[in-house]
Amino acid sequence: MMYEPLEFSEADYPQVEYQRREQFWDPIRLAIFTLVIAAIIGIAIGIVTHFVVEDDKSFYYLASFQVTNIKYNENYGMRTSKEFTQRSLQIERMMSRIFQRSSGPLRFIKSHVIKISPDANGVTILTVLMFRYPSTGNAERIKTKIENILYQSLKTKQLPFTINKSSFTLTSIDNKKMRNLLNNRCGIRMTPSNMPLPAFTSTERIIQGRETSVEGEWPWQASLQLKGAGHQCGASLISNTWLLTAAHCFRRNKDPSQWIVTFGTTITSPIVRRSVGRIILHENYRRETNENDIALAQLTTRVEFSNVVQRVCLPDSSIKLPPKTSVFVTGFGSIVDDGPTQNNLRQARVETISTDVCNRKDVYDGLITSGMLCAGFMEGKVDACKGDSGGPLVYDNRDIWYIVGIVSWGQSCALPKKPGVYTKVSQYRGWIASKTGI
Ligand code: ARG
Repeated sequence: MMYEPLEFSEADYPQVEYQRREQFWDPIRLAIFTLVIAAIIGIAIGIVTHFVVEDDKSFYYLASFQVTNIKYNENYGMRTSKEFTQRSLQIERMMSRIFQRSSGPLRFIKSHVIKISPDANGVTILTVLMFRYPSTGNAERIKTKIENILYQSLKTKQLPFTINKSSFTLTSIDNKKMRNLLNNRCGIRMTPSNMPLPAFTSTERIIQGRETSVEGEWPWQASLQLKGAGHQCGASLISNTWLLTAAHCFRRNKDPSQWIVTFGTTITSPIVRRSVGRIILHENYRRETNENDIALAQLTTRVEFSNVVQRVCLPDSSIKLPPKTSVFVTGFGSIVDDGPTQNNLRQARVETISTDVCNRKDVYDGLITSGMLCAGFMEGKVDACKGDSGGPLVYDNRDIWYIVGIVSWGQSCALPKKPGVYTKVSQYRGWIASKTGI
């Protein structure tokens, strides 16, 4: 009853309304109102620009410093050694502790240890540091910021390693130099905007796999095509001119002039196309047993490395992957047994299976020899298939990818207890070197 509208008479109504309106829209109020609205719009535009219009730029630095509480180990000289990998990971983790959540617009992306060398007082670490900063930034001024953050953390943070402050040097390097540094390092994936591409961890499959969405996700993957017959096999780029593939791919035709190679994530619109000048099959390839199923193909003209065409690393012959190590296989092969080639590159995460298990009577019953490697799942479901042959099985070590296998054979595809069988690349490291000098 309190708000009963009938209490107001119609006669009063226009007057009251008129007065109120005049009071509210007086010039001062109007001015304030306009200012407030303008300010809100301004702030909104600022926020949107800040978050949506990503005008940050990458800045790269080469950092070198002495660490006095690490003793040099001979295996630090070998990039794939367990010692180098573990140390590098620890150093990289320390770097993110130092630079992450550093104040202001400076954003730490990642560090990548390039070298650990012996030193009278311990070891010297050489690492690339990557930052994002608004494009207005100046590399030298950012450098001072980075040094300040580092010196501050040396004083205030509990760090696992003792960095000799006076040994610390920081050099700003440009995009090209960083690219050269990394491109000398095989197996590195970058997005088109020069950001490191992190490893994907979800379960995927070629049979039961997923398409690769990002161009440059598997930049060493090539398609080997026979003129007039299209895609036959996969292959992996290991230098500007050499591809590693399977010997059985050339069973139909060994004439290099009949083959072409394409790069890119689709077969129909490749980024790069090349003809083949030379094909080298392993001398002891045996089609009856699939032994030594490895071959090299040399391009007639070199390909230049970029973010979408890049070589994969060859593993040292000493590399050992324990059973159940996560590895990825990629290819344009069919997704069902005897199905058609896929136009879009696909990837699958599989796991290594020990030769002992793979040679069990109920699995491959002794057919796996020392030059072979099994990968997949005992329950089947995820596997390479026809057309993936010759393609890479790769292993990710600190975002550097190594080719550990070449798709070779399998009983049908993705069957239980019939995992994929791959040529064990480490076993042929010497053979590859003897033919290519790589
Ligand atoms: N040999 C087949 C080819 O020529 C690929 C074999 C891979 N099979 C497998 N189940 N993993 O494409």
